[in-house]
Amino acid sequence: MSLISNMFKSKKLKSPVDLSLLEVDMHSHILPGIDDGAYDMSSSTQMVQQLAGLGYRKLIATPHIMSDIYKNTPQIIINTKEKLKKELIKKNPETEITAAAEYLLDEGLLEHLEKYDALTMGDNYILLELPYFTEPNNIYEIIFRIHIKGYKIILAHPERYVYWCDDFSKFEKLKDRDVYFQLNISTFAEKHSFPTRKIADNLINLGMVNFLGTDIHNKKQFELLEKALYEPPLAKLVESGNLMNHLL
Ligand SMILES: [Fe+2]
Repeated sequence: MSLISNMFKSKKLKSPVDLSLLEVDMHSHILPGIDDGAYDMSSSTQMVQQLAGLGYRKLIATPHIMSDIYKNTPQIIINTKEKLKKELIKKNPETEITAAAEYLLDEGLLEHLEKYDALTMGDNYILLELPYFTEPNNIYEIIFRIHIKGYKIILAHPERYVYWCDDFSKFEKLKDRDVYFQLNISTFAEKHSFPTRKIADNLINLGMVNFLGTDIHNKKQFELLEKALYEPPLAKLVESGNLMNHLL
């Protein structure tokens, strides 16, 4: 086990991390029926209520945009967000709901960004994810082109790109190119020996984490999320003052 992993090996917290300190959840799949997240309006409103119960005052829905499976456009996403907001007026009017997207870096991304203005959060940030199984070979060029358009990039769950587990310089190269990093809270519920957890611990230790997200897709995932809230490294990160969720 690495030195860094040992540093984080500690007992569980007696009370859960207070997510109201983050104020904003900036990665979630709570909009009904347009990706692999909430499958209908009822599950959508229940997920909103569960997230609000964790202390968030604002939720940014980030449905997938993928050129092969989820061909969402800004209009589809905004219309669906409006439907959810209408439904929530009766049930949960105090939680602010906005929408952006989780853009997959695939062969259709640049074309999509030519055709439509991106759905952004905060100061013109777009949430970008990479493929899970292989490193994209044109990643730096695409990042350059997105920056040229005036967008800032938040990389969704860098800890899930395990093909870089043994080459940390890949994360440093992205940081050098002004890419911001967002960890998934549920990663903290995983064992220290898992590649995802190792990457997350390294990123935290080097002060490279800027945002935390739930990346919640369904009600079942709340179990893992709630388990993570008893993990000391999560508490340390939330209380560090380094996170920027509240600015979104
Ligand atoms: Fe996601």
